Amino acid sequence: KYEKWWLTLGATSLVVFLIIVGISAFHYGSHPPSAKVYIDPERVDEIAPFNNPGVHKVEGKDWDYEVVFVASAFYYNPPEIEVPFGSTVKFIATTKDVVHGFQVAGTNINMMLEPGYVSEYVTTVDKAGEFLILCNEYCGVGHSTMTSMLKVV
Ligand code: CUA
Repeated sequence: KYEKWWLTLGATSLVVFLIIVGISAFHYGSHPPSAKVYIDPERVDEIAPFNNPGVHKVEGKDWDYEVVFVASAFYYNPPEIEVPFGSTVKFIATTKDVVHGFQVAGTNINMMLEPGYVSEYVTTVDKAGEFLILCNEYCGVGHSTMTSMLKVV
């Protein structure tokens, strides 16, 4: 009978859902923002480096580029960035309003952006291509459309 099949399907989905929730909770707990520098969320646009979002070549540091992102509901500034293959990049990001995520699909780049704090992540881009940057913290009606793009060329 179909009923039994549907019941099994329903129970299975529930279990899968609970496992996913469990894993994300664990994941979430083990990935706190990497830096805790306070910044006034209402003045983000005036404060360096967030007054100049984008890709900046740097000298004399352990990384080649600093990539500055400002997140707000429901977009990232800049909407797209490009960095050379093999370079070491420091991502520096914050949010002007609510908590947003900053995950680069297909890479290990994953930060939580909290209002009032600066999140940083240093990595070497060793895969060429286009990678979608997406928000993985629910932030409102536009959450699912909140994206940017990382191009490694
Ligand atoms: Cu921003 Cu979800």
